Amino acid sequence: MWRLLVVCLLLGTLEAVDRQNFKTCDQSSFCKRHRAVTSPTGYEVVQDSIKINDTGLHALIKNKDTTLKLTIVTLQDSTVRVLIDENEGALRKRYQPLEALVEREPKQQKVKKTKEEASVTKILTTDGNRVVLQHKPFRVDFYVKDKIVSSINAKETLHFEAFKKKVLLTDREKGFWEETWKDIKDTKPHGSSSVGVDIAFVGAKHVFGIPEHAESYSLRDTKAYEPYRLYNLDVFEYETNSPMALYGSIPYLVGVHQKRSVGALWLNAAETWVDIDPTTADKGGLTKEVLDAETKPRQVPQHNARFYSESGLIDVFITLGPQPNDIFRQLAALTGVTPLPPAFALGYHQSRWNYKDQKDVKEVHEGFVKNDIPLDVLWLDIEHTDKKAYFTFDKDNFAKPEEMIKDLSEQNRKLVTIVDPHIKKDSKYYIYKEAKKLKYLVKDAKDAIYEGNCWPGDSTYIDFLNPKARKWWSDQFAFDKYKGTSKDVHIWNDMNEPSVFNGPEITMHKDAKHHDGFEHRDVHNVYGFHQHSSTFEGLKARSNNEVRPFVLSRSFFTGSQRTAAVWTGDNKADWAHLKQSIPMLLSLSTAGLPFVGADVGGFFGNPDEELLVRWYQAGAFQPFFRGHSHQDTKRREPWLFAANTTDAIRNAIKTRYAFIPYWYTLFYEHAKTGKPVMRPFWMEFIEDEPSWDEDRQWMVGNGLLVKPVLEEKAKELSIYLPGKRQVWYDWETHKARPSPGAVQIPAELNTIGLYHRGGTIIPKLSEVKLTTKENHEQPITLYIAVNQKGDFANGTIYLDDGESYSYEKGDYAYWGFTFKREHDYLHTITNKNLDKNGKFDSDVYIDKIVIRGAKFYPRNAHIFLDDFSPEDLDFEFNRENFVMEIANPGAFVTREFRIDLHS
Ligand code: NOJ
Repeated sequence: MWRLLVVCLLLGTLEAVDRQNFKTCDQSSFCKRHRAVTSPTGYEVVQDSIKINDTGLHALIKNKDTTLKLTIVTLQDSTVRVLIDENEGALRKRYQPLEALVEREPKQQKVKKTKEEASVTKILTTDGNRVVLQHKPFRVDFYVKDKIVSSINAKETLHFEAFKKKVLLTDREKGFWEETWKDIKDTKPHGSSSVGVDIAFVGAKHVFGIPEHAESYSLRDTKAYEPYRLYNLDVFEYETNSPMALYGSIPYLVGVHQKRSVGALWLNAAETWVDIDPTTADKGGLTKEVLDAETKPRQVPQHNARFYSESGLIDVFITLGPQPNDIFRQLAALTGVTPLPPAFALGYHQSRWNYKDQKDVKEVHEGFVKNDIPLDVLWLDIEHTDKKAYFTFDKDNFAKPEEMIKDLSEQNRKLVTIVDPHIKKDSKYYIYKEAKKLKYLVKDAKDAIYEGNCWPGDSTYIDFLNPKARKWWSDQFAFDKYKGTSKDVHIWNDMNEPSVFNGPEITMHKDAKHHDGFEHRDVHNVYGFHQHSSTFEGLKARSNNEVRPFVLSRSFFTGSQRTAAVWTGDNKADWAHLKQSIPMLLSLSTAGLPFVGADVGGFFGNPDEELLVRWYQAGAFQPFFRGHSHQDTKRREPWLFAANTTDAIRNAIKTRYAFIPYWYTLFYEHAKTGKPVMRPFWMEFIEDEPSWDEDRQWMVGNGLLVKPVLEEKAKELSIYLPGKRQVWYDWETHKARPSPGAVQIPAELNTIGLYHRGGTIIPKLSEVKLTTKENHEQPITLYIAVNQKGDFANGTIYLDDGESYSYEKGDYAYWGFTFKREHDYLHTITNKNLDKNGKFDSDVYIDKIVIRGAKFYPRNAHIFLDDFSPEDLDFEFNRENFVMEIANPGAFVTREFRIDLHS
């Protein structure tokens, strides 16, 4: 069977996902057992077991079979951790993926007050929130400003399979001690140790998150369907609108509410399923808690999420918001942010499986120059290696990698090469030999080296759970080891779920063994995380921590954002997949992973020219922008099509480059605040409830609304303008529209729906050159979109060298721009250094200012520079659409100025 699968994979001949390869909940014994829990499991707090301490409490909870240890810890910034583990004397230690957190022990916070009553114990946190442990039945409730917002075990579904000695025959039938899937046996030597509980989001109209699924952005009711599955799998040609597991997992959900949004991180790296139950508070087990003078539980929306994991423990972080910005900051405090990427990574990436040889590489990147299309990075897929031995180059086709890389470097471009985690089993291959000798390879259930089939044929797998193996892996990227590479080579980690063509569900056997006695089942979802993290560390180290690395990973876990960008894997060249990419990327962004993209054009199949253009237009406004395709597809470099197609693609890519100063600023701000760069509407327009679950449109930062054309042969593009009492400006025509509202614009070949939000200022390159390096420090145009009241707008810009870490030592500039109505006859534009620690000396000047929504009639304009002697400025004013344009104001971004506009 697997041979057939390998053949199909190689040939790429399968038309659609083969569902048969992947389990449903019913076919996974622990999922089935948990889903069957419908009556209360009867846990209660053991009398007199509660021990209160400075930051929370410990207690025992039990039902008729099991006693468990409960810990509640209050953390900084309105975050509470709830841990449920086996009581003392457990037969085995349970795995916790603590490396996914920024700090293995997140900072605790002293509680303000605790109160023990007969049936409840209350904790008042320093942030003014309340945690209430209800004793019988066991339940933990969370209150923000005296309103209940969340609860653990309100449905009393807590189910915890403690390790036990192998005895029960009946359990075997249920898959407790072994489980067979398609003739592959999981020996389960320790039996089952699954855990699960329900978490309520009270008042939440929608829940978002738990990527990765090819699903709607707002999570669906799963009652009559399959639960969402989190189990990192190589699902090629995945289906759209499906809760099936995909390449990565972030077990994080946010329940959105106008005033009290709440996040929940389920820190568990084992296979996990999540059931979503949209309900109302009267049916959600919290009637009494919700009831007060104004609130009728029947009218309070609620979402219950039930998480079940195959092993590990219950370790839940509840972030209590309450506003969207708080939610993102709190998640970032736990799992981190994406550090500022090198600027080139925000440019356009050209990839294909595969560019054949060095000549091909040269022709392609020169083709971009010839055709006047910007490009920053060229990618090499698996065929560039010496017979799939990573860290090597094919001796014939890539005989002189130094030359190829030098050639790219000379044109300010970079190369990305692929390095997968499966290691060719070949006694002549140095990586294999060393890893074997050092015992850094995963073992099988019988303690022999684990072997599986992947691209090289017989393969072994690095045990990234071993810190020493990780360090060794990092070392392999040193220039003297990875021969031929230079600082302009960055890395792509693929197939790191890990993909094992002959393994169960095309991945590793769950009873395979990792470092420290853990089974693969315990660590599965964090395997890829460790690979890309050690790749990133290796790239940093090879340049003595001077050059910012870029790593793309297919598999991911919570915390992956700290060291990788990710893409959505093997999609298809069809309209459904183009549409699907938007909610997928929004869901990743919501879960704390901002640097995300989808294969532009679709990986499998050949897009027609219209689809390709539309995909470039969407991709140009998504964080990671790469064209990539399967080896069986036709070549698709942008100039291989009709002239108007090439023109439209060029336009889209150039538009991307023009906005890079804005993208770069947003990435900087992400690293400070945790806010994603590609944003769902609820984050910016919490007052506009109908817009929250939008999954065809998105915001880039707080100022730019994007709606690409997503329909074939569309004549019109209809755009929803969210928010209340806001004004929006069409990016091209400047035409103002109020919100909430909708507009229709003609869908021409070059149309991308772009609206500029009133009240914001966006810096954009005035002219675009062919690489980010050449665009660095080029003049910008300041686009000012005046707010609805006509009196204000502001925005920011961040600048540095674009590639090194010297910004960490103060070599950066972070400035703000403000447009203000001073009084009836005077409006001003000023800039200001927002961070005096930044010392970057920049000559970037503003060669044009465009004011949209200038509802005044300017008579004259002048600029004050340092010396306060004003100079007159030339301007044009369009009375029909209220646009004022000032050419060459003579202002520099990082030198203070004031422009007075007299009317
Ligand atoms: C699977 C990846 O998803 C795809 O992007 C890549 O081209 C192939 N592996 C070959 O490396």
